[in-house]
Parts: sequence; structure tokens; C-alpha cells
Amino acid sequence: MEKVLKLDSEYLAQTYKRLPVAFSRGRGIFLWDLGGKKYLDFIAGVSVSVLGHAHPELVREVSNQMKKLIHIPNTVYIREQAELAKLLAGITPGRIGKFFFVSSGAEAVETAFKISIKHTRRRKILAMEGSFHGRTAGALAATWKPSYRRPFKPLLPRVFEFVPFNDLDAAERVIGEGTAAVVVEPVQGEGGIRVVSGEFLRGLRELCDERGALLVCDEIQCGMGRTGRWFACEHWDVEPDVITVAKGLGGGVPIGCAGAKPEVMDSLGTGDHGATFGGNPLACVAAKTVVRIMKRKGLVRRAERMGAYFRRALEEVAEDHDCVREVRGLGLMLGMEVSSEKLAERAVLEVLKKGFLINSTAERVLRFLPPLVVERIHIDRLIEALDEVLKRMEHEGIG
Ligand SMILES: Cc1ncc(COP(=O)(O)O)c(C=O)c1O
Repeated sequence: MEKVLKLDSEYLAQTYKRLPVAFSRGRGIFLWDLGGKKYLDFIAGVSVSVLGHAHPELVREVSNQMKKLIHIPNTVYIREQAELAKLLAGITPGRIGKFFFVSSGAEAVETAFKISIKHTRRRKILAMEGSFHGRTAGALAATWKPSYRRPFKPLLPRVFEFVPFNDLDAAERVIGEGTAAVVVEPVQGEGGIRVVSGEFLRGLRELCDERGALLVCDEIQCGMGRTGRWFACEHWDVEPDVITVAKGLGGGVPIGCAGAKPEVMDSLGTGDHGATFGGNPLACVAAKTVVRIMKRKGLVRRAERMGAYFRRALEEVAEDHDCVREVRGLGLMLGMEVSSEKLAERAVLEVLKKGFLINSTAERVLRFLPPLVVERIHIDRLIEALDEVLKRMEHEGIG
């Protein structure tokens, strides 16, 4: 571990606030650190490892594909990409039916913005306070946290406006003839596990229809079954015009996409967009395998059931501790807001010592995003550890 710390500080950009641990392998919900200590993973690579680690079928399919063809450029037809798009058309909401593949969430968001600008021939995009859409220029410009944006201001396009999340009156005042798109996370992840209200999301849909703007749902963190629906917007029967997907899609193999209604995607013509790695055979086979396993194992419904169990358990913990302000979330995307940033940071470190990986976001929200294969017994163990840690910290007067 010492050696890794030294190499990290000497050779890596120091942009991440890392927990003091490094892992050498994983299996299901379990991880083992460099010294062989076992942990339970309740963050899943931040909503990535939906099947847990080293899922045998995913490993087999990806290994087989590696032996056949890892990469081929988008200058030729790619069978695996076309097949994956068909599969996604079957699980994405409403008439979302055509896809452009990329390798990360931010790229998916950039793609969604390009589609929106080209389709509507307008130039404004409305985003939400508390949003997070990524670190590339367009995605960053749509990201709320001023400290993320400020140092890079010269790079950021000035087409974005923000309104408070869940404030329909504010949105109504801003969406106008120049609005190309409204972008919203149905559950804000980095923003502190904040769930959209049905009234707001449905209201945005109506306003977009009325005023000719596109509704873009960023499902990069809350999609792929995590909330108990394939995509979180389905909880409110809202059909977006454009959707962004990444993180869980490849189960850890980097792949993302923007999906759109066919007539919307068709606004992009030859040469309008491209991505060297986007939708290569390896990544597409991984994603096809993830979707197939999720369907066969019923992991979406399972996320709803396990999420309800987990939430109840967190609420019981909350009742016993004054430092807990609120428990919120949907399915297996859950947050526990505590009284201070210091307490949140310490809690993450203390549960880590007990063998559980969680994280905190939006300063003081403990975030839980376990693999969708998590079992009750794993949840019970985390809850016991969390309860002990909060008890001890309250006793020590941290809060
Ligand atoms: C909602 C949302 N959009 C976009 C992104 C950016 O994804 P990536 O880090 O893969 O670029 C994230 C990452 O956390 C996210 O949560």
C-alpha cells in the first residue's frame, strides 16, 4: 500500500480525494484489498458494477470476444453495435429507438447536447441546480457546482441556464423559444440523492412539448435498473426525447450512449459526430451480456425489492440517531443526509475500517449504490456497522 501511495503522489494528477485503500480483486459484492482483507462494496464503482465483480458469464463473454475482435473502426459496420442498439431500444422508455455509442458518461451528455442543438436549431439549454453531468466542456457547463466550473470558465459554452431542481414555476419562466433542451437527472446522484417530483418531471415534459424544446433525461447514474425500473423516468411515465446512459451499461467495461427518438437522432447526419472507441465490439458484447443477465435474473425488480428493504433499515437507523437528517432515494440508489460534512467523512472512513465501501457526496450525504445482486444479509451487516459507527461518533460529540 505504501508503494502505491508513493507512486500515486509522484506520477498521478492529484484530482481525486481517495480513501486509504487499494483493491486487488473482487467477486460479487466482495472486494479484497492488497493485504487480503475482505470488504463489501456498497458503491459499485459509483453505480457501474451492476452485476458485482468478476461475474463469470460477463468474464467469459468478454474474454471470448477479446480473442475474436477487440476493436474495429466505425468506418465499417459493427454487428455487435447494431445488435446492442436493438436490445436497448427494447428497454429504453417510450419511442427512444436510435443510439450513438461512446465510452463515458460525459461523452454521452455531449452527444445529447449536440443532438438537441442540431435538431431544434436553437442555442439555449436549461439545467438544474444540484446537477452533475460530467467534466468535459459542455457537460461541465451544465453541471451546477460553481467550484467545478469556475476555474475553467474560458472553456465553457455560455448557453446554459439553471433553475432550482423541482421548481416548475422557475422552469416555466425560463423555457422559451430559444430553448433547445431541458436536461434533468430523475434522481440527482452527485447532487445528494435527490429524487425529482412527479409534478416537476411531468411539468417539464409538457413545457417542452408546448415550447418545442427537447427533454433530455440523464440516466447515467440512476439508469440501468438501479431504481427499480430500467430507467428512473419510468416511475413517472415520462418519456424523454433523448436519454443518456453509461456507468452500469457495460458492467465495468467503458461504454455509454445517447439514445433518442428516431426522428430526433436522424437530425445528426454523416460527419456530425464520431468517437473512435464508441461502440467497439468488446464494449458492445459486454453491454449485451449485462442486459441479458439483468433480464434473465430479474435484477430490475430485485433492485426495487432490495431497495425497499435497505431503505427501511436505513430509516430505522435514522430513528436512533439525532445526527441523521433524512433518508432518501429510489430502489438501490439511496442517501442518508447527516448533520455535517465532518461527520459524513468520518463515517465513510470508520465503516471502511469495518470492511464496507461507501462514499459521501454533496458534502454530507452518505451514498449507497450497491451492485444489484446485493443480498439482505449484506445489507444487514452494513446496517449493523453503520449503527455502531454513528453511535460512537455521537458519543464522541462529532456532529
Ligand atoms: C448523472 C451523471 N451524468 C454524467 C456523469 C459523467 O459520467 P463520466 O464520469 O462517465 O463521464 C455522471 C458521473 O458521475 C453522472 O452521475
